Amino acid sequence: MIVSGSASQVLAAELAAELDEPLASVEYERFPDGEVLASAPGVAEADADRAVVVASTVSSDAHLELLQLQDAAREWGAEEVVTVVPYMGYSRQDKAFEAGHPVSARAVARAVSSGTDRVLTVNPHEEAVCDFFDVPAESVDAAGRLADPLPANLNDPVFLSPDDGALDIAESARDAYGAGEVDYFEKVRHSGTEVELTPSDTDVAGRDVVVTDDIIATGSTMAGAVEILGEKGASGVFVTCVHPMLASNAVTKLSRAGVEAIYGTDTIERAVSKVSVAPEISGALR
Ligand code: R5P
Repeated sequence: MIVSGSASQVLAAELAAELDEPLASVEYERFPDGEVLASAPGVAEADADRAVVVASTVSSDAHLELLQLQDAAREWGAEEVVTVVPYMGYSRQDKAFEAGHPVSARAVARAVSSGTDRVLTVNPHEEAVCDFFDVPAESVDAAGRLADPLPANLNDPVFLSPDDGALDIAESARDAYGAGEVDYFEKVRHSGTEVELTPSDTDVAGRDVVVTDDIIATGSTMAGAVEILGEKGASGVFVTCVHPMLASNAVTKLSRAGVEAIYGTDTIERAVSKVSVAPEISGALR
């Protein structure tokens, strides 16, 4: 039985189809005081031994929904509760950045662990975030899927990551595309919205460039990369990521920078979510 959080309904339906498992009827309500109530009414003990709760924790409410749906699954008697967090919110807060700060990724991982037997997530910013869970947790790599929506006729392409941390994503996307050079920029982050990028020496003039990353959040990183590549004479600049958070004015920033197209997966459901990670997740769940 697949049980979806409100922000992951498209992916949950894809996953149910991939696994040929029923999709639970779910309801999302809110009490007058603002508290959320996510439920799966009508699900009976006989319906499923295994409940797979699928919920990207894109907001505080989504975190709460996930915990409630895990608990509802235990209530109806599911023998095994598996939690799929396609996009794990707070995962980039994986250390105490200043004295007195929490390790927020660890805090949310502990909460999620309390209601489940196993956790799956997709391309976390750092693999080590899986160690924060108190139950077996693993990540699924969907980077190869980023090649799927790209035009088939890219001109002498370069697959580029905006920092060396995302180089493996660029390599996976290039390998899946089947052609192209791989390169990366150097990045220094000055604040939540300010980044400084130092380009490499690769000649991109007249070539198509695909900039790949794990997440586009504010869009500052990608917009900076697109601008630099435009100045260096790139023919078309495509950006693609696993998690298209695209917070606030990110799409406008990228458009103003001159991006050709933006692509992402359905770990976060946005208009640009052209690729489903359901095959990768179902493979890990079989
Ligand atoms: C950080 O290293 C990540 O890989 C992303 O590059 C970053 O989180 C993107 O953030 P933003 O879109 O806000 O620049």
